[in-house]
Amino acid sequence: DVYKRQVHMSVMISGTGLFTPKEFITNEELVQSFNQFVINFNEENKDQIDSGAIDALVPSSSEFIKKASGIEQRYVQDKEGILDITRMRPRLKERSNSEVSILAEMAIKAAEEAIKQSGINSSDIDAVICGCSNLQRAYPAVAIEVQKELEISGYAYDMNVACSSATFSIQNAYNDIQSGLADKVLVVNPEICSGHLNFKDRDAHFIFGDAATAVILEKDSNSQSAFKILGTSLKTQFSNNIRNNFGFLNLPENSDPKSPDKLFIQKGRSVFKEVVPMVQAHIASHLDKLNIDIQEVKRLWLHQANLSMNQLIAKKLLGREPDEQEMPIILNDYANTSSAGSIIAFHQTKGDFVSNEIGVISSFGAGYSVGSVILQKI
Ligand code: COA
Repeated sequence: DVYKRQVHMSVMISGTGLFTPKEFITNEELVQSFNQFVINFNEENKDQIDSGAIDALVPSSSEFIKKASGIEQRYVQDKEGILDITRMRPRLKERSNSEVSILAEMAIKAAEEAIKQSGINSSDIDAVICGCSNLQRAYPAVAIEVQKELEISGYAYDMNVACSSATFSIQNAYNDIQSGLADKVLVVNPEICSGHLNFKDRDAHFIFGDAATAVILEKDSNSQSAFKILGTSLKTQFSNNIRNNFGFLNLPENSDPKSPDKLFIQKGRSVFKEVVPMVQAHIASHLDKLNIDIQEVKRLWLHQANLSMNQLIAKKLLGREPDEQEMPIILNDYANTSSAGSIIAFHQTKGDFVSNEIGVISSFGAGYSVGSVILQKI
């Protein structure tokens, strides 16, 4: 029976949704606040700096940010707390257990759009998978909260593969449909990256933004906007170059919860150098396994972390410079939204696909991890 399903059944992505916070911060606003913090720090610590005990902090620049990353602004859940130099982190109100949590709330908004686009009802859904880098609590799963709010029966769970969480959760949903566990699965990727970003770190303070995406996967969808999944492929390889040591053992270990390693830390240059060839090889070998020539691929929806990185991956794959249509960029507006990035690009630019055209979603990040989902418009 399972064999028959695999031969005769198609798994489709029938709808996508996006939640974007109302507030955004431009590079200029971010740099102005960071540089004021630098001036104040250097004045307050003048004696220690003069004696050589500590290094003076160095100002940031919006030109550097644009040039090094391609980022121009980022959407955030709370602008005021981030730009307040006495705080430099978002100010989020702690909610009671009887209120819907902020991560579930974002996920639900994205899910509602995806459900509408797919033309189904939430009660038709059999499972919810929440994949994200930045889970707000250990348990109960945010996915189960989303399941309750949308009155979905069946099962739900959270998973975290950092920036690759979207493609990894899409593969889980795909497998659940293939194996007969579920017919319709909702995947949500809510990310409040501003909560784990060190806004006092010149090397990284500009990198992230907040957003949530949602994807509906179905067995044999009737939706006109559906894409058939031709295949999924995942790869991981351990690296310390992107890390966040925040966790439930911080207290028993008596480690300082405010130390920089309890937030996002990376060796950006090494990540760039090591991840580009890994992603290029991964996508090339996945296409090869499915007997698809790269020239048949209309669009690459890549993880949105760094403009040059994406240009290089696309160039290595295509053997020439990609154009804007072939490799859409949304990170100029959104910055890196972790797992949501490649899905935002897919959501915003899939509308012009005609029957049989092929596209590739690929996410990559901490782990290291790389995932690809190859799609064909029905
Ligand atoms: N403002 C001004 N100058 C800055 C700066 C800032 N905010 N941050 C760093 N610089 C300076 C550095 O001091 C350095 O100066 P030096 O050459 O005089 O020493 C110079 O700019 C280059 O710094 P570097 O960190 O090597 O920059 P980069 O070109 O590698 O760009 C990243 C930094 C983070 C944008 C880039 O490495 C990147 O995006 N890497 C991939 C990250 C990624 O995809 N991560 C995945 C996360 S999920």
